[in-house]
Amino acid sequence: MLNPERSKLLNLLDLNKDIASAKGAWLTSTCGEVYLDFTSQYGAVPFGFNPDFLQQQLIEQVNTNAAVMVQPFFSQGAKELSDLLIEIAPEGLKYVTFACTGAEVVEAAIKLAKSGTNRKKILSTLNSFHGKTMGAALATGNAYYKEEFYSDNASFLHIPYDDLEALELALSGRKIAAFIVEPVQGEGGMIEPSPGYLQGCQALCAHYNTLFVVDEIQTGLGRTGELFVSLKEGITPDILLVGKALGGGMLPISACIANEKAWSTDFGLRHSSTFANNHLAAHMGIGTIKALREQHEILENVNNMGHYLREQLEKLVARYPEVYTGCSGRGLMQGLMLSPWRDPQSYVPCCVYEFGYAVAIVSSYLLNQNHILTVPTLNANNVLRIQPNYFVEQGMIDRFIEALNEVAEIIKQGQFVRLLRNAIGLTAPMPNQDLPPLRLPRQAPPEPTQDEPYRGRFAFFIHPTTEEEGVDGLCAEISQFSPEERERARTWMNECSSLSPIAVPAYHIPCFASDDGGYIDGWLIASFLSPRDMMRLNKAEKTKLLTGYIEQAKALGVDRIGLGAFTSVISRSGTLVADSGVDVTTGNSYTALTSTDAVRQIVHHSGRSLSTMQLGVVGALGSVGRLCLLDLAGECASINLIGNARNKDRLSTLKSLAGEMLLSLVNADKPNAIPILMRL
Ligand SMILES: Cc1ncc(COP(=O)(O)O)c(C=O)c1O
Repeated sequence: MLNPERSKLLNLLDLNKDIASAKGAWLTSTCGEVYLDFTSQYGAVPFGFNPDFLQQQLIEQVNTNAAVMVQPFFSQGAKELSDLLIEIAPEGLKYVTFACTGAEVVEAAIKLAKSGTNRKKILSTLNSFHGKTMGAALATGNAYYKEEFYSDNASFLHIPYDDLEALELALSGRKIAAFIVEPVQGEGGMIEPSPGYLQGCQALCAHYNTLFVVDEIQTGLGRTGELFVSLKEGITPDILLVGKALGGGMLPISACIANEKAWSTDFGLRHSSTFANNHLAAHMGIGTIKALREQHEILENVNNMGHYLREQLEKLVARYPEVYTGCSGRGLMQGLMLSPWRDPQSYVPCCVYEFGYAVAIVSSYLLNQNHILTVPTLNANNVLRIQPNYFVEQGMIDRFIEALNEVAEIIKQGQFVRLLRNAIGLTAPMPNQDLPPLRLPRQAPPEPTQDEPYRGRFAFFIHPTTEEEGVDGLCAEISQFSPEERERARTWMNECSSLSPIAVPAYHIPCFASDDGGYIDGWLIASFLSPRDMMRLNKAEKTKLLTGYIEQAKALGVDRIGLGAFTSVISRSGTLVADSGVDVTTGNSYTALTSTDAVRQIVHHSGRSLSTMQLGVVGALGSVGRLCLLDLAGECASINLIGNARNKDRLSTLKSLAGEMLLSLVNADKPNAIPILMRL
């Protein structure tokens, strides 16, 4: 079976299609549906699917009985491609090592740097992406791709992107073998650095004798409208990395190209890979480079269409600033950033945004409703990646922009149900839109007035208490779902919660006014897990969920946390999170303290004093009774703790509770408050 987790994820978002054939910008499914591609397999398909000229070259090579895999010899293709790469690469690069994937040549660069410099540390940037094998994942500036697999490795350091000061600080210790950087952060969300950044990096690397490695695996060979960004920026890396487009979208091939300074004989003698130097793959590289060099209209089209696409995206952002936060990128690697989803009628859209599914849900809508293929960037799951092939036409971009307009209208009007129904795979027409909101506040909560003093922020942890309740909260229109649709929605939410058993900020309440003046604000932090789901979690998973809740609360700057529903149970009444650095309260504590407060008020209004009265606590062994006792004990004349005398165990537990109470009064330095009489 192919990776079931990926299938689950694709199914969850109704993004799973069986593609039977592909040509140019078009994909055809086994059901005969045709999709317009705006993804180019993460930028690895430069000329569209199965371009005629590369198909022909491939067939020609196969027909010559060429020596495709003849290691230890170099294939003719590998020799020719290495010459060609050196010809087109920035000055000084002259040693080529081929591999199949991008990550492999990142590994090669790391090995080269370590062996040639006798330094052990590798520096890269936060939010970068360099691949998923060990060294490449450790260089990648995104914990998600390494934390479960490779423990933190002190040899790999990260600094903010586009920050020359941070770079100088890191290099100045002269311990860094190589600095690896993307000229435009692709998976990070299509982020361009400031003008002059790359030149600054080169100068600093040269000054501190660190190898300057430029990862053009995604930007290289035309994607930005140039053969290499390095050429455009006038930089000469010590090592240049190329992948993706090098295979022309036909076969996997990548290259690590080093200059004299970076090359090492140890590496040359000890590094190899069985499938490197494949003649056919190399020929796809030769065909790709020749096409890009000889047919100027290709890069011209990338530049023209890149500008046109960018212009249209900027207009879209200007038209729908509440839906699209911005766009960025270069040439035909562009990103469109989605604003956070807020639905006053349901916490679900906010949660799915925070789970990182919003762009994927939009992609699913574009795929199923508009027949256009897009995906999110890997590090920035709020960025829609837009990477059509180099022959993209204006009409295709117009069609794409029209689809994005449609999505913007849906989001602007708060019709998240349309996006959710599409992701759930519900194809029937939309239910009537005119229903009143079902669950969350019927009116927007009041905004604070300026002159009220602000008294702090709370977080309350929530989750559905049953699966049914979870489905009820999906959207205001849920009552119009048919029983079958409701069942599908339930399954969808279950899958969502099993794939993302985490807690995320779901709802902000801007103002709770106090009778005493002032106001607080607060966040509901939610997971989709029901108590039954939580009971199924193992200890580590429960801890992860609780830590997630707490971390989210801290990141939001809260100073008091309320444990709602089952979060109190899985945290053993809050004891497991007691030392989180933030005040934590449970529903039981709240019940106990409001009860004791009520007792005080009643006594006060009746003109009596607790200090002359006898306190009786029924159910003192329950957590509410115990808290009531501890809170009131020091104020009463005598105490009766009432338990079942027939149960000997209970009696001895009552005794220890009495001891706990005495101790708490002594510790609180209130020995005089110890009640005169205590009966069990
Ligand atoms: C800049 C960059 N480096 C390295 C890689 C890893 O390439 P591969 O997936 O072929 O291993 C990628 C892939 O997205 C990339 O964008």
